[in-house]
Amino acid sequence: MTASSGEMWDRRFAERAWPADPDPYLVELAESLSPGRGLDLGAGPGRNSLWLAAKGWDMTLVDLSRVGLDQALAGAGALGVTIAPVHADVYDWQPDEAGFDLVIVANLHPGPDALAVILGRARSATAAPTGRTSRSYSPGPPNGPDVMLSDAS
Ligand SMILES: C[S@@+](CC[C@H](N)C(=O)[O-])C[C@H]1O[C@@H](n2cnc3c(N)ncnc32)[C@H](O)[C@@H]1O
Repeated sequence: MTASSGEMWDRRFAERAWPADPDPYLVELAESLSPGRGLDLGAGPGRNSLWLAAKGWDMTLVDLSRVGLDQALAGAGALGVTIAPVHADVYDWQPDEAGFDLVIVANLHPGPDALAVILGRARSATAAPTGRTSRSYSPGPPNGPDVMLSDAS
């Protein structure tokens, strides 16, 4: 991915509002989880992270689009929650420490090779070694809960 991808998404997010409702698959997954540390890779304006933050999750959002992250920050302000935006390419970014309880990869649409890189990154960011349940989530494409990864190890 290149910076131009971020600029393309900057334009897209500036031109019209991105959906604000969280992804239904994520809601189904996370409804039963206790709040913890969450990582949203390719978060955009943060519809999923904001929903989680409102439920008490401590969310880090990584995205190439500054406009998307600014919109996420504005949404967080409106909700009265705090989020941690990171302007970075998910292919390069490394978390300072593992320990995320939930990693979301929603609608990033990488190709198959890139998906493997992204999901590898997600696994390395999770807190599974400490015993907490850790899940990675990728609703599409391919679409559906069958592409969720459970209990990274
Ligand atoms: C289709 S939007 C999905 C946003 C959000 N995950 C959602 O489901 O509403 C794709 C997002 O991925 C971001 N993105 C694409 N490639 C990226 C990369 N290599 N690193 C970081 N973010 C990336 C774009 O900037 C955009 O915000």
